[in-house]
Amino acid sequence: MQINVKIKRYNPEKDSRPYWSEHKVEARATDRILDVMNKIKWEQDGSFTYRRSCAHGICGSDAVLLNGVNRLACSVLVQDLGENITIEPIRGLEVIRDLVVDMDPFFDSFKAILPYFINDSIEPSLERLQTIEERDRYDDATKCILCACCTTSCPIFWTNGQYLGPAAIVNAHRFIFDSRDEGAAERLNVLNQSNGLWRCRTAYNCTEACPRDIPITKLIEEVKRELLWRRA
Ligand code: SF4
Ligand code: F3S
Ligand code: FES
Repeated sequence: MQINVKIKRYNPEKDSRPYWSEHKVEARATDRILDVMNKIKWEQDGSFTYRRSCAHGICGSDAVLLNGVNRLACSVLVQDLGENITIEPIRGLEVIRDLVVDMDPFFDSFKAILPYFINDSIEPSLERLQTIEERDRYDDATKCILCACCTTSCPIFWTNGQYLGPAAIVNAHRFIFDSRDEGAAERLNVLNQSNGLWRCRTAYNCTEACPRDIPITKLIEEVKRELLWRRA
């Protein structure tokens, strides 16, 4: 089938403003959008710029706006979108070129919540044991691939780029509810700042955008409750 693809392009070094490039592409219904993007780059315009790596929904590098919705280009098929497809960079982060955005603010927020195991007590001679229930407590949050689909679909983040955002909160949840970790108070303190947890207005865009089906809004509410419970 022939499909019509419109791509939002922008090279700050030579373009005064973003523009749309239009492409007709021969594709199969089962081709991934990443295949279509590769075809355009390899056969029509080598200057078209985007990130990709694993092509299997694991690395999180090819988050884009497909027909207005944040998705991973490698996880959506042509048949999911139809004959007319628009591709844009994810919103709220500065465009470096075409679909490549500056991810530094996103990863700065991730780093701010101390996304690593903290435990200064004496190490056990073997492993730090955990029950199945204790492990289940934060299982959803372990599935995050840091693609930024959630944070860049959040209306609060669009208006306030300083908001830590749902991805950072999900990754805080990952450690706050880990029974082996001792850094919860420190992380909750970071999340309790003016651009932290309380900026969330339960818009749910993040939950709908997550390619890993993480119930993000629910996790955010759990962190809010934990903070209130500890302050009570
Ligand atoms: Fe991506 Fe989901 Fe992680 Fe957000 S929570 S960064 S949408 S995988
Ligand atoms: Fe934003 Fe998700 Fe909250 S979209 S407002 S972080 S529920
Ligand atoms: Fe790795 Fe799509 S290229 S998630």
